[in-house]
Amino acid sequence: MCCCFQKMEYVIKKVLEKNLLNDDQPSVELFDVDYLNGRLDSLLEAFPEPFFEHAMAVKANPLRCVMGIARDRGLGAECASLQEAKHALSLGFAAAKVVYDSPVKTVKELREAIDLGFHTNLDNELEIQQVADYLKEYQGELPVIGLRINPVVGAGDIAMMSTAAKQSKFGLPLLEDTQDRIGKIFKDNSWLTGVHIHVGSQGVPVDKFVAGCERLFQFVEYLEALVPGQIKTVDIGGGLSTSYTEDKEPEEFTYQLYRTYLQERVPMIFSGKYRIVTEFGRSLFLKAGTSLTRVQSVKEWIEDQNPIILTHLGTNQFPREVYLPHIWRHRFSLYTADGDKKEGNEINVDIGGPLCFQGDYLAKEVLLSHPTAGDILAVHDTGAYTMSMYCRFNSILASGIYGYKKINGEIELECFKPRETFEECMQFWGFNKPNQIN
Ligand SMILES: Cc1ncc(COP(=O)(O)O)c(C=O)c1O
Repeated sequence: MCCCFQKMEYVIKKVLEKNLLNDDQPSVELFDVDYLNGRLDSLLEAFPEPFFEHAMAVKANPLRCVMGIARDRGLGAECASLQEAKHALSLGFAAAKVVYDSPVKTVKELREAIDLGFHTNLDNELEIQQVADYLKEYQGELPVIGLRINPVVGAGDIAMMSTAAKQSKFGLPLLEDTQDRIGKIFKDNSWLTGVHIHVGSQGVPVDKFVAGCERLFQFVEYLEALVPGQIKTVDIGGGLSTSYTEDKEPEEFTYQLYRTYLQERVPMIFSGKYRIVTEFGRSLFLKAGTSLTRVQSVKEWIEDQNPIILTHLGTNQFPREVYLPHIWRHRFSLYTADGDKKEGNEINVDIGGPLCFQGDYLAKEVLLSHPTAGDILAVHDTGAYTMSMYCRFNSILASGIYGYKKINGEIELECFKPRETFEECMQFWGFNKPNQIN
């Protein structure tokens, strides 16, 4: 599949033609709708059976227009907080397709999630007790309620993205000596009809996801012997990696290949006996996104040092990239103020962001054509876990966001979200005067 990289010059010219990059809006987000639809096609073609329910991970990209595309293709929404779950509900996602996965829930949130009919995955025995207490007096129809277990298949390359190491904060660890204890929880709570894993995210090899599913289904078999017929839903999580260094999706992480491995090693997934939920985020959205920022100025003063370019994007939108640059590094390319791709005359530059601290560099040692003020820097592969992590430090206004797609051979731009206004930004900082508390 062709990625947005090749046609980027054309899209940037459209952005300039519409005057979307200007002094009031020196950075914008672009989202390739056709690319996302292509990813959704791949996912739905790889797992077409009606017992598969694919929920998009809202945390990866909570833009309402983006979520709407996934909803229209029949996806559900995997949510890390009650707010994300209500966000999905407000967009018309069916409550039963909203998967509420937060690792930390108050009693009130648990009750509300059940009342609203969300597929709710519990994290620990206290939550189970709290739900059991609620259900004693509960009258309505019960949604799917599951328990997250940690299949303990080990970490991938990025510890912070790996949730199946022994000492993970998520779910209950499924080990030889804990299996009976977890089994008893299911036996004592017949309303617990789901089981959930999520092995991790970027940096985890496919084999670990398959091993996680293998372990999960061994446990499901164990539960079938203990509480026959109780388990109806098995949620195998998300997590397939993509690539930040290449412009194409990596071949070892295609949805089709994942299915092939699962078929070989976990055929029970395809038996049709269980409703199978998946929760992909990054692999759906990452490569659909590109961030543009004007190069506001260039400092080239010290002979043996890289020039520093100052831009409007740094920690405000890329906290992981700034604090862990050895792990998260994007591809960059440079365009003139007229939108022509700059090539040749390459030098290493350091890319500074707009925030007022010395560490605010989006990346260092980036090989780019010699930059000048007014150039446009494109940060590639920004459709997941960038805008969703937007940070308020220094009150930098969040970029306007534009979708684009090809219609009759022409690229058409549409606004997903205007640039944040000063007033919206100020709301975050509270009242003008202290409010009396009665
Ligand atoms: C429970 C759960 N499901 C799904 C996801 C999505 O993972 P990814 O974006 O890597 O597919 C995450 C990511 O943190 C998660 O925690």
